[in-house]
Amino acid sequence: MRVLPQILFFAAAASAAVPYQQYILAPPSRTLRPIAVRLENGTLSTGAALLDNQTSPGQNLTLPTFNSTVTYDFGKNIAGWVNFNTTSSDGAIGFTFTESSLWISSEACDASGGSELDAPLVFNITSAGHYAAPTEKERGAFRYLTVVNLGSDQLSIDDLWVHFTAMPHWEDDALGNYTGWFHSNDEKLNRVWYAGAYTDQLVTIDPTRGNAVIYPASTSSGSSADGFNWYLNTTITNGTSTVTDGAKRDRLVWSGDMSIAVPGIAVTTFDLISVQNALDSLYSLQNPDGMLPYAGIPFNDAGTVSFTYHLYALIGVGNFFHYGGDRSYLDGKWAQWKAGMEWAAAQIDGTGLANVTSSADWLRFGMGGHNIEANSILFYTLNLGVALAQNQNDSATADRWAQLAAGIQAAAIPLLWQPDVGLFRDNETTTLAPQDGNSWAVKSGLVTNASQVVQISNALQGRWGQYGAPAPEAADAVSPFISGFELETHFAANRTTAALTLIRNMWADFMLDDVRMTNSTFIEGYSTSGELHYAPYGDEDARISLAHGWGTGPTSSLTTYVGGIQLVGAAGATWAIVPQVGDLTHVDAGFSTTLGRFSSKWFTDGSVFRLEISTPKGTTGTVGIPFPGNRTTATLICADRPGVRVTADDLGKYWITDLAGGDHQFVVVGW
Ligand SMILES: *[C@@H]1O[C@H](CO)[C@@H](O)[C@H](O)[C@H]1NC(C)=O
Ligand SMILES: *[C@@H]1O[C@H](CO)[C@@H](O)[C@H](O)[C@H]1NC(C)=O
Ligand SMILES: *[C@@H]1O[C@H](CO)[C@@H](O)[C@H](O)[C@H]1NC(C)=O
Ligand SMILES: *[C@@H]1O[C@H](CO)[C@@H](O)[C@H](O)[C@H]1NC(C)=O
Ligand SMILES: *[C@@H]1O[C@H](CO)[C@@H](O)[C@H](O)[C@H]1NC(C)=O
Ligand SMILES: *[C@@H]1O[C@H](CO)[C@@H](O)[C@H](O)[C@H]1NC(C)=O
Ligand SMILES: *[C@@H]1O[C@H](CO)[C@@H](O)[C@H](O)[C@H]1NC(C)=O
Ligand SMILES: *[C@@H]1O[C@H](CO)[C@@H](O)[C@H](O)[C@H]1NC(C)=O
Ligand SMILES: *[C@@H]1O[C@H](CO)[C@@H](O)[C@H](O)[C@H]1NC(C)=O
Ligand SMILES: *[C@@H]1O[C@H](CO)[C@@H](O)[C@H](O)[C@H]1NC(C)=O
Ligand SMILES: *[C@@H]1O[C@H](CO)[C@@H](O)[C@H](O)[C@H]1NC(C)=O
Ligand SMILES: *[C@@H]1O[C@H](CO)[C@@H](O)[C@H](O)[C@H]1NC(C)=O
Repeated sequence: MRVLPQILFFAAAASAAVPYQQYILAPPSRTLRPIAVRLENGTLSTGAALLDNQTSPGQNLTLPTFNSTVTYDFGKNIAGWVNFNTTSSDGAIGFTFTESSLWISSEACDASGGSELDAPLVFNITSAGHYAAPTEKERGAFRYLTVVNLGSDQLSIDDLWVHFTAMPHWEDDALGNYTGWFHSNDEKLNRVWYAGAYTDQLVTIDPTRGNAVIYPASTSSGSSADGFNWYLNTTITNGTSTVTDGAKRDRLVWSGDMSIAVPGIAVTTFDLISVQNALDSLYSLQNPDGMLPYAGIPFNDAGTVSFTYHLYALIGVGNFFHYGGDRSYLDGKWAQWKAGMEWAAAQIDGTGLANVTSSADWLRFGMGGHNIEANSILFYTLNLGVALAQNQNDSATADRWAQLAAGIQAAAIPLLWQPDVGLFRDNETTTLAPQDGNSWAVKSGLVTNASQVVQISNALQGRWGQYGAPAPEAADAVSPFISGFELETHFAANRTTAALTLIRNMWADFMLDDVRMTNSTFIEGYSTSGELHYAPYGDEDARISLAHGWGTGPTSSLTTYVGGIQLVGAAGATWAIVPQVGDLTHVDAGFSTTLGRFSSKWFTDGSVFRLEISTPKGTTGTVGIPFPGNRTTATLICADRPGVRVTADDLGKYWITDLAGGDHQFVVVGW
């Protein structure tokens, strides 16, 4: 009788909150106050009165004259409506917002349209009291808020806060209610994982507050002498939340961006309803001929065709099913999915490869002809289609798609592989070796030869600069989006330390720690020289989004490859846990699907490797246990095999198959 409560206690603790909550960047409440004064004008010295940690209430911010300003820092990128209480009874007050410190100004915000800066949010004060931004003047992402006196008299403010709006469908005090976690002995990797999780939360918005693309303002172009009159009030999906590309802009559904964001969401918040709402909005725009849109409502009014984004919309449904296992959703989408797959397959010509005739992609140039990226993604999608068609008992379709996939593989390698470079060329008229196509050639499984995979990984690494991995197919650009796929290439090549080095250098040292960044969310793109200039946007530097879901690739990669947790069957009905060690000593990773919780916790000191895994009851899986150091024989100790001598395979692992779900521990001792 005395033992029972304790057993219950442990059982309850195991299914409740995830560990390492101190790393979660989601705020504990939706009411946020600034944590520091970044700049004060001239003699102004009362800015600290409105800080979050203000310990003596009754202090006011006083802006003595016209154009007196104070710039506040929230310490991380946030989103929401500005609120303030003033003790003044007349005057005017302006607010400007910016994600990067580069665009701090009392006169304009950073940009959500083109190169022109966004206008300040202005309030005319008519009496003392509380003022709040109108709903359409929500700002989707900013770290810095500048307050400026636009009246002629002294202005006094005794409270200032932002009502946080991301993740609108989650409880106000439970925004950190994650289902996943990641911890290692490397603090940079830990911070990157949680910043990716938070970025994906910041791009999850109220679908009635979408779109920073259309600006009916004082002129027909939306611009005026005072800057863009921005506002957010376009409904982009059904439901109460949706995933978008970026928090400041575009605030639109883009399937390409989702191909990185959705795996990140799955292993952190498991917020699949926001994914479903986004996917549904794309499928509601499908053409009668099967083509899916480049982007969601209202952007696709332009009717742009994008071969790759069409495929990403198909992959989106595959990912949704892969993580959530919702069979009825797949059944409901199957007719549209099949029509979409056939539209893409119809672009395959006599060579066996698709000839891409639409230029729209992730804003790289030269996306045409027998392009390697497009064909690798097509190869991947056809194989996904084979699995889905089998699941639908449509074996004739599965066989046909399998043949088309085999045809792509047989044609692409002889036509586009450059053995002397160790990389594919973009198409048969060039020697340019793209980052996207080479990463996708590996990710898709088009390249099966292990030494070719290693060659690609090596050659891509050979091009790294100080600020990360370049994408020469987009001029002078570093793309956190495509670099997310490149990371998977290094992991697939089992070049784990290379992958970890890229995360540390690019995502931690630059994308988090550079002073122009938000120290919390990931930027969409920048130049190879580390300027916050993104070649595809020309001179529109202020427009770059610093919270873009497509930049969160490391989050799912760390869970999948370093934690090693791979779902094989939908929602993990079958799974594999295959940790990649690199130069790490401790890792603890996990997440939940609809079937329950998956976790992998490991330790090594070079002579021992200890692994503890937990998977839901009723599932089955495979474990690939790495040997400590470079040993090839060792002693394996686990529950049913006390101390047996085992030999590693060629890649230094020992495999146990058909393992039943539940808790297991393995210790491999090399002596
Ligand atoms: C409030 O926070 C700021 C910035 O972190 C710090 O400089 C200041 O000392 C803090 N003040 C108090 C009273 O804790
Ligand atoms: C702040 O303003 C309120 C209202 O005008 C006033 O009562 C209070 O004395 C002011 N506090 C300071 C420190 O000036
Ligand atoms: C207000 O201050 C800003 C920043 O110091 C300055 O550039 C601007 O010219 C000032 N505006 C006016 C109207 O004085
Ligand atoms: C401070 O405000 C004055 C006018 O009120 C303006 O002329 C000056 O440029 C501002 N200084 C800074 C550093 O913003
Ligand atoms: C504030 O008042 C000015 C002058 O009356 C007016 O031109 C402006 O439109 C008002 N702005 C707002 C945001 O109400
Ligand atoms: C500011 O106004 C709000 C709404 O009226 C009120 O709840 C809050 O207490 C006020 N803040 C201060 C510091 O008085
Ligand atoms: C946290 O998420 C779980 C599902 O993952 C849900 O059941 C629970 O209600 C959430 N808690 C809060 C406080 O929102
Ligand atoms: C969005 O807000 C603008 C500015 O307030 C307004 O003109 C427009 O009608 C609104 N659109 C919708 C769909 O509410
Ligand atoms: C909402 O759902 C309806 C019915 O499926 C569909 O016609 C409409 O296009 C959807 N709206 C959006 C914004 O996705
Ligand atoms: C082939 O690739 C090169 C390099 O990316 C590009 O300049 C060219 O436009 C591409 N061809 C087509 C038809 O897109
Ligand atoms: C692709 O199709 C276009 C349009 O039909 C054609 O002009 C082009 O030559 C084709 N490209 C290749 C590489 O076959
Ligand atoms: C990397 O390791 C995995 C698991 O051990 C193996 O399946 C895969 O073939 C390896 N990749 C290469 C390129 O050797």
